[in-house]
Amino acid sequence: MKAPSVIIVQDAEGLALMGAEIFLESAIESVRTRGRFLAALSGGSTPRAMHRRLAHAPYASAIPWDRTHLFWVDERMVSYDDPASNYGAARLDLLDRIPIPGDHVHAMRVSEELGNAARLYEQEMRDVLTGPGVEVPAFDFISLGLGPDGHTASLFPGQPSLEVQDRWIVPVKGGNPDIFRLTMTYAILNCGRHILFLAMGEEKAGAVRRVILERDAALPAQRVEPAGGKITWLVDKAAASLMTHELASRTRGPGGTHPSTDPPAPRG
Ligand code: 6PG
Repeated sequence: MKAPSVIIVQDAEGLALMGAEIFLESAIESVRTRGRFLAALSGGSTPRAMHRRLAHAPYASAIPWDRTHLFWVDERMVSYDDPASNYGAARLDLLDRIPIPGDHVHAMRVSEELGNAARLYEQEMRDVLTGPGVEVPAFDFISLGLGPDGHTASLFPGQPSLEVQDRWIVPVKGGNPDIFRLTMTYAILNCGRHILFLAMGEEKAGAVRRVILERDAALPAQRVEPAGGKITWLVDKAAASLMTHELASRTRGPGGTHPSTDPPAPRG
């Protein structure tokens, strides 16, 4: 697997803008080469500003929403109107503002019994990701967050879900809020073509350093290793604050970027 690219931005606005650019670039490239764009979005608070940016010019009209399918990497088993709902947040920030076909938006069935909800979502993923001519079912783009404990999606340290290889979606309990959830497993995450980790704030700096520099396998985020894909870390200065020394010799470009991948210049 290629070494991850690390893009350090100034603040939340810079992260939202750069994230939207990377999403757009991935969408255009995927439609150009495969005729569609399969994306899985993370929950939590960090990606919300990026989602809102995607719902406005120039992204709302530049992204081929009619060729895009949106899934979620995890979901809390609460109603969509609950503030803790990942789909509910995305509906407010993005979905209600873009012309994406209704059957291209794949929310987890939170009103179903937990095990059944997992089976139904996995089948819905298989219905879209597999098919004639598809050798390896894979998302083109996956956004992932990072917890201070190194969790990502709802893959929490020490849980059995970290070892599941024969299912794409499993029920778990944990996190903040500590509730029942569904999460994608490494079995599908590690097929991703482009994984975008988003991390912001001082409280993430330790986990960011342990994953990127120390490659600490005790952290679930470190085990996201797409064999045929690439990882981009998009972090603000606070989240990068425990590794700026090591990266100092490697960053350049606007806001500081890893030389292996200079991000696209924001469209403003
Ligand atoms: C979830 C998220 C989770 C999140 C991290 C970071 O549903 O809880 O998928 O993995 O990305 O906990 O959360 P923040 O972005 O709110 O810090």
